[in-house]
Formats: sequence, structure tokens, C-alpha cells
Amino acid sequence: MAKVNDNYLKLPGSYLFSTIGKKVNAYAAEHPDKKIIRLGIGDVTQPIAPTIIAALHSAVDEMAAAETFKGYAPDLGYAFLRETISEHDYKARGCDIAADEIFVSDGAKCDCSNIQEIFSTDNKIAVCDPVYPVYVDSNVMAGRTGSYDPATETWSDVIYMPCTAENGFAPSLPKQVPDLIYLCFPNNPTGATISKARLQEWVDYANKNGCVILYDAAYEAYISEEDVPHSIYECDGARSCAIEFHSFSKNAGFTGLRLGYTVVPKELKVEGVNLHPLWSRRHGTKYNGAPYIIQKAGEAVYSEAGRKELNAQVAYYMKNARYILEGLKGAGYTVSGGVNAPYIWLKAPDGMKSWEFFDYLLTKANVVGTPGSGFGPSGETYFRLTAFGTYENTVEAIDRIKAL
Ligand SMILES: Cc1ncc(COP(=O)(O)O)c(C=O)c1O
Repeated sequence: MAKVNDNYLKLPGSYLFSTIGKKVNAYAAEHPDKKIIRLGIGDVTQPIAPTIIAALHSAVDEMAAAETFKGYAPDLGYAFLRETISEHDYKARGCDIAADEIFVSDGAKCDCSNIQEIFSTDNKIAVCDPVYPVYVDSNVMAGRTGSYDPATETWSDVIYMPCTAENGFAPSLPKQVPDLIYLCFPNNPTGATISKARLQEWVDYANKNGCVILYDAAYEAYISEEDVPHSIYECDGARSCAIEFHSFSKNAGFTGLRLGYTVVPKELKVEGVNLHPLWSRRHGTKYNGAPYIIQKAGEAVYSEAGRKELNAQVAYYMKNARYILEGLKGAGYTVSGGVNAPYIWLKAPDGMKSWEFFDYLLTKANVVGTPGSGFGPSGETYFRLTAFGTYENTVEAIDRIKAL
């Protein structure tokens, strides 16, 4: 008789953004006259940049001729893209990452949730609290997290590393040593970053204790300050303890096109076993490669014209971030983030809990944000707004909140 993976049954509620979607749809159905502004989910609103569109068109045309048609892509990605990534994202920053250590995929969400498959279910994970919920949920599905306590909204076998106002939303090294450490900087949802010296401490800790750091750099394009590392491989010794995830969603608006990559350095070993061939095997068996036309679009992201257009796009979103930050500060809110990341993290006012504040903003200002508790227990009295809206909507939303 067939049996289900009952780890799925342990997951509390539905995925955060499905719950938000349901609430917003119900409100919209009851109030069809209201203009709801969504600053909740981290989806972009600007169209794909012209240089990338041109690359897409030309790749589509290649598919129409027998001489240039492409079938299955290489499992690990086309060399033209892997070499371009290695050159621009790593060598140009002084990081020693070769093209064959880069695995192209259809996005960072799949990679950072699938990566746990190459590790034993006995591994103990540590996560920033709050953080992108996919890290914990994918480990729940694998049966690695123990039992769930609804009162504390925590899993018995997960090490939570609180990121609070007191520590500047950057966690301290955990006292109980984990096996796998998920780090995400710039962080979703807090927008906080970590200095290179602090990240070096994590790398040293991981190398000393035999941990693997799973470093999510999905928002690195938003870094504006000097001392903030764009890659964990800027730290000495990271090649022997870290895997890094990148996305084309936030820097280039590929949330719908889908492209990302993961770096697994060749000398990264666990119990004497190299992880590179394991991930390569997993990728080759379970994945058939990102589409050629999307990889060509990805290559155009690094062209001179592409970079110029995308810098302008990032600047557009960061102008929104400034409007949100300054507007809310002026209205007396306690806010952070928004300087090296497109997320603004605010304390819910008047002792409200985060879902209470969600309902309050939805019904009183018709503005949708994301309750902090959805990202971990330390987010309970916090709320996330994204800078990914249009400028006009962002201004209108913040002006409505200021008028409450
Ligand atoms: C921290 C983090 N990693 C990964 C992703 C997903 O990236 P992708 O669109 O490449 O799957 C997100 C999306 O919001 C994110 O916030």
C-alpha cells in the first residue's frame, strides 16, 4: 500500500505567501471598489531590460533554424554562461571560482531547497531567525527538523539564531554547533547585511567545526556599502566550507523567466567526500537544464549595456526603498534595512503582533505587506515591506500609511 511522506503533514499552515494571497483575495472580493497596493511578496515590477529582451529574441530565432536549433541544454549549464559568471561575479572580485564549479539552474529557490538532499538527514541545521522560510520548510519535508511546537512556532531539532534589533539583525555564532548553517545576506526579510570581517568569523567557525555554510546571495546586487561582501568566497577559507546560491530574479527581474546558479567548490568535503560530484549527480539526474534562450538572456545580464540598464533598475527600486524608509521614519516607525537590500523591516506599532498589523494595514490603508512572524519567531512583532513596487504605488502606499 502506498504511503505518503508524512513529514509534509507536519508543516504548519500553508506557505506564507499563499496565506497572504488568500486573505488579500477575500478582502478584495468583499471590497471591489478599493485599490489594494501590494508591497508584500518580493516580486519585481519593472519589465525585462532592452538588452536582455534583444538577447531573448535572437535566441528564439536561433531555435527556428536547423543549424542553430538547440535541444536539451547541458545539465550543468552552457559553458558561455558559466564562464561569464565566473569572470564577472567571481574573478572580477578577486574570488577564485572556476566555471566548472558553477551549476546553472532555474532559480535559487529550487537550489537552496534541494541542496539538503546531498546531506544526511542526521545533520542539524541552523537558520537565521527571521529568514526566508524555504530553508526550514525544505528540511521539514526531508524529516530533519524534529517536532513542531505551535506555542513557540519552532522545530525541536533546528538551531534558531535570533536576529534582533539588539544584534543589528545579524546573528551571533551558535553555542550549540550545527552541521549545516544557512546564511542569507543581504537578508530577506530584515534587509540586514554582514561585514566582511564578521562573515570571515563564520567561515573560520565552519572550518574549525566541520560545518557547511549554505550562503544565499540572492540580493547581492542591492549592496551599496563598501564593507559588505558580495560573495562568501571573498573570505579566506570559504572554498572548503561554503556553497553559494545566486538568483537572476532580483538583479535582473527574472522572477518569471527563471534562472539562478549554485557554486560548489571542488575542495569542499564532508567526511572526506567531495560535495561537487554529489551535487553534479543530483543535478544531472533530477534536472534537465535551464532553457537555452533563458541562459542567453542570462549572459546578456553581464554585457556592458545590460549592466548599465540593470544598475538603473536597481537604483529605481532603491529610490522606492528610500521613500519607504524616510516616510516611515518621519511617521515615527522604527525601521531598518532598505540600504543594501530592497526590504524594509519595521516594528509593528502600539504593541501589535505582526498578523494584527497585516490586517490593520490591509483594512485601513489597503496596503499589503508581509507579517514578520512568517519568517521565524523573532519576527513576531515586525513587518516587511518591499521596494519592488512601482514608484507611484510605493509613494501612494507610504502616504496612506503616514495618514493613518
Ligand atoms: C533569500 C531568497 N533566496 C532565494 C529566493 C528565490 O529566488 P529565485 O527566484 O531565483 O528562485 C528568494 C525569493 O524571494 C529569496 O528571498
